[in-house]
Amino acid sequence: MEGRILVSHAEENAGTRRDFLYYATAGAATVAVGAAVWPLVNQMNPSADVQALSSIFVDVADVAVGTQITVKWLGKPVFIRRRTEEEIAIARDTPLNDLMDTDARNANMGEVPATDQNRSLDETGEWLVMMGVCTHLGCVPLGNGAGDFGGWFCPCHGSHYDTAGRIRRGPAPENLHIPVAAFVDETTIQLG
Ligand code: FES
Repeated sequence: MEGRILVSHAEENAGTRRDFLYYATAGAATVAVGAAVWPLVNQMNPSADVQALSSIFVDVADVAVGTQITVKWLGKPVFIRRRTEEEIAIARDTPLNDLMDTDARNANMGEVPATDQNRSLDETGEWLVMMGVCTHLGCVPLGNGAGDFGGWFCPCHGSHYDTAGRIRRGPAPENLHIPVAAFVDETTIQLG
């Protein structure tokens, strides 16, 4: 009797051990499945460094009137220009009928007419923020009054942009695009 009990204990122990091995294997399988699924999930989310770069802050305190800076954002150049009163006036006096592309191309607004007011960052129109990417084939246009309309000029195939970055002559089909941007304080612009 005592022996049978012992055997029984032994069987119990063996069973417990088998169960343990079974669960351990199942646990390992779960981990393995988890590891297999994670990269797929991970690929659907931007990586930490991309997330960190998706929004940047630009100090524009030292940008003088009539000059511009170019910053790199998400691997592309962004022009930030502090326009003169003359540049603003020329842009605001331009009739929409004169434009080749009448969409503001402003990511902050959706589909609105390409008035200068709908493209400049602030109400006075002093600040203009645009992707520095020609809408023809992606060259980086020259700035600081280049081209026949006093704004930007893309020498690759001869596209002329005005002082609001709107395409006025040449093969580029669209105005220079305006990214998501906003002043977060008096001298700091957030991109993205
Ligand atoms: S890429 Fe700018 S004109 Fe062709």
